[in-house]
Amino acid sequence: MLKAVILIGGPQKGTRFRPLSFEVPKPLFPVAGVAMIQHHIEACAKVPNMKEILLIGFYQPNEELTRFLMNAQQEFKISIRYLQEYSALGTGGGIYHFRDQIVSGNPEAFFVMNADVSSAFPLTEMLSFQKEHGEPNSFVLLATTVSSVLHYVEKPSTFVSDIINCGIYLLNQDIFQHIGAVFQKNQQEMSLEEPTNGWHRAEAIRLEQDIFTALAGQAKLYVYKTLSFWSQIKSAGSAIYASRLYLSQYHKTHPERLASDKEGGPRISGNVYIHPTAVIDPTATLGPNVSIGTGVTIGAGVRVRESIILHGANLQDHCCVLNSIVGWDSTIGKWARVEGTPSDPNPNDPFAKIDSETLFREGKLTPSITILGCNVTIPSEVIILNSIVLPHKDLNRSFKNQIIL
Ligand code: GTP
Repeated sequence: MLKAVILIGGPQKGTRFRPLSFEVPKPLFPVAGVAMIQHHIEACAKVPNMKEILLIGFYQPNEELTRFLMNAQQEFKISIRYLQEYSALGTGGGIYHFRDQIVSGNPEAFFVMNADVSSAFPLTEMLSFQKEHGEPNSFVLLATTVSSVLHYVEKPSTFVSDIINCGIYLLNQDIFQHIGAVFQKNQQEMSLEEPTNGWHRAEAIRLEQDIFTALAGQAKLYVYKTLSFWSQIKSAGSAIYASRLYLSQYHKTHPERLASDKEGGPRISGNVYIHPTAVIDPTATLGPNVSIGTGVTIGAGVRVRESIILHGANLQDHCCVLNSIVGWDSTIGKWARVEGTPSDPNPNDPFAKIDSETLFREGKLTPSITILGCNVTIPSEVIILNSIVLPHKDLNRSFKNQIIL
C-alpha cells in the first residue's frame, strides 16, 4: 500500500501571500475554485492502493482546516489526518519527526509533496518510472525544465542545469536512515557549540539541501522529468497563473467545473469556474481564467478577466476587474475599475516558469496584480491600479501603484 504526505508549512510561511494569508491558511486558498491542496488530494486519491494522506505543518488546528479535512475525507473516501509539528522542522525534519505515523501499516512507498505547487501530479508515472528504472528502494524526484534559469531564484542549489526540482517526491522508509544520520550529526555539532536548545535546531532538516544533495551521487535518487504543467504558488500573482493551469486541465479532469454559455446566464469567454451559489447578472461577461467563489454577487454589465473573486464579494453594475484578486466580502462600486499587471511567463515558451517576483525593485513597488484584502470597499467610478489594499479598508478615491495600509 501507499501513502502521501503534503507539507503545508505554517503561519510564518507564505509571507509573500499576504494580505490573503491573513484570512485563510495559504494551503486552503482557493485555486480554480477549490483549496490549493485539494488538487494534491484529488491526484493522490486516483492512485491505486493509496491508503492515507497525512498533512504535516505547524498551523494550530483551526476550524477551517478541520472542516476541510472532514469534507475531503468524505468526498474522497480516504483517511486524511493533520499532524502538527511543535515548530517549523523543515521539509525533512517534519517527516522524520512523524516517521512512526508514516511507516505504520508498512507502506511500500510514500509521496511527499510541497503544498505550494500546482501540477498535473504525474504520480502513477513516477511509480512506474521507479519500478522500471530505479534500484529497489530508490527515491524519485519529479523535475521539470525551465528555459531561463537566471530568472529562477527559488531552488538553484540542488541542480546546476536547466532542470528544477518540482517539490514532489516518491520515497520509502529508507529515507529515514538518511535523515536520521543528518539529525545525529546536527545534534553532535550543536551540543558542542550551544548546550541550550540544540535538540530543536538539530531536528530542523531540509530535504532538498541537507538530504538530496548528499544522495545525488549514490544511485539512490532518480530524477523523473515531466513535460506536464507545473508552477509554484508563492505570491498572490502566481495563484492567478496556477488557476489558469488547473482550469485548462479541468477540460480533461473535471469538465463539470467549467462554466459554459447558457440561456439566461452570463457570457463566458474561455475557462471559467463559478460556484453554484454565486448570483450573476446575465449581462455580465466573465473570462478567460476567472474563478468565482461562494455567494458572490455580480451585477449588470460587469466585466471580469484573469481574476479570482473570493466568497461573498459584491461586484456592482458595470465595474471592471482585470488581473486582480478580490478578497472575501469586498464590494466594488458601480463603474469602478480594479486592474493589475500580470507577471505571467512567456506564453510562447512551453517551459517558461513564473518568476517569484519581489514586491519592491530599486525601492519602487513592482507593478503587479491588484489585491483587495477581505472586506474592502471601493467606491463607484474610481480606478485602483497595481495596488495592494489591506483588509477592512474603505477607500474614497483612485489609487495607483500603492500599498494601502
Ligand atoms: P519559501 O519562499 O519560504 O516558501 O521557501 P521555499 O520556496 O524554499 O519553500 P520551502 O522549501 O520553504 O517550502 C516548500 C514547501 O514545504 C511549502 O509547501 C511549505 O509550506 C512547506 N514547508 C516549508 N517548511 C516547512 C516546515 O518546517 N514544516 C512543514 N511541515 N512544511 C514546511
